[in-house]
Amino acid sequence: MSERTSGPSTRAVHGIPHARPERSPVTTPIYQSSTFVQPVGSTEEVLYTRYGNNPNQVRLAEKLAALEGADAAIFLASGMGATALAHMAMLRPGDHLLASDWIYGGTRRLFSEEFGKLGIDVTFVAPDNQRNWRQHVRKTTRAIFIESPTNPLMRVLDIQPLAQFCCDQGIALITDSTFASPVNCRPLEQGADLVIHSATKYLNGHDDIIGGVVAGSEPVIEEVRQLMQVWGQSADPHATWLVERGLKTLAVRIERHNANGQAFAEWAAGHPAVSAVHYPGLPDHIDHEIAARTLDGFGGMVGLTLAGGGAAADVMLRRLRVATHAPSLGGVETLVSEPRFTSHAVLTPAEREAQGIPDGFVRVSLGIEDIADIIADFEDAFSSL
Ligand SMILES: Cc1ncc(COP(=O)(O)O)c(C=O)c1O
Repeated sequence: MSERTSGPSTRAVHGIPHARPERSPVTTPIYQSSTFVQPVGSTEEVLYTRYGNNPNQVRLAEKLAALEGADAAIFLASGMGATALAHMAMLRPGDHLLASDWIYGGTRRLFSEEFGKLGIDVTFVAPDNQRNWRQHVRKTTRAIFIESPTNPLMRVLDIQPLAQFCCDQGIALITDSTFASPVNCRPLEQGADLVIHSATKYLNGHDDIIGGVVAGSEPVIEEVRQLMQVWGQSADPHATWLVERGLKTLAVRIERHNANGQAFAEWAAGHPAVSAVHYPGLPDHIDHEIAARTLDGFGGMVGLTLAGGGAAADVMLRRLRVATHAPSLGGVETLVSEPRFTSHAVLTPAEREAQGIPDGFVRVSLGIEDIADIIADFEDAFSSL
């Protein structure tokens, strides 16, 4: 069976299906070892877990590459580590980065607080109009960074025309695809050069590890590997093993996240406590057409603007029992958070308001619980407003 003919579920379970030696373990054992016996006098590659060549790391990277349709991939200790090293592999002092303005707050901090120290200039651009990119591109621009779907408004960017623009300008397109997972979107197929994930989210899916992924061409991933070896962001074998295990159910989990996301958004759209629902699967979402055309599923993330503002969010969050008030997303548990205190705390209230994230905005990561129980939980919480 070739890689081309296998679907996302098969890839998530097997990577590229291959014959197994007799009596070999069916699942990958945990190689909980920092180092490996070295042949005396050998000039071959040294095996050492910080180098990213522990068998758990190698096996998981192969699966991640297969899922993204990439030549190569690498698993790192966090999503932030993946974002940092992906950019360090692509950019040099004196280079300019164009970054979407609609991104996770940690990534914004990395770009605005750290990249200047490395001699990399960053301009933030509203990403919904190609004219904005064109207007800010410079001779020194080497890459564009986007996140899609965006956090927390679930805006969906049309990757293909942007990739064409990048190709015409000779610059790289780097995409954080954490919210989509490779089941709902594979940006490399649409022309992006590099894809990043916080594996902490859907890829692992169980809220029990921190991890990150970069996938793309072999030379760039090799450069990320070299950087990882000296900057020290390799992942622990046990966390790596847990992600390989979590990945096996990725496609079925995403099916349920997509179904729960749609059902929850439709329910919330009719509730008087909610003044706006942000979900690309709703026909009145501003990017519904792009989402329907470019995604294989609308996802499990829903943004709600509560009619009663921040005070209503406070009351509601204390009342929830099935859903948990916690940052992060993409796990089997339904999690709810307020971007003003978490992912977007780095923005001022006025900046958040301007982006459409007022106080009283709550972000819901639908888990895989029974949708009737999730809705009953929110019904109950809203009834106390
Ligand atoms: C879209 C996105 N990218 C990257 C990250 C960073 O990932 P990590 O927490 O695994 O470092 C996050 C974290 O919330 C995120 O939401």
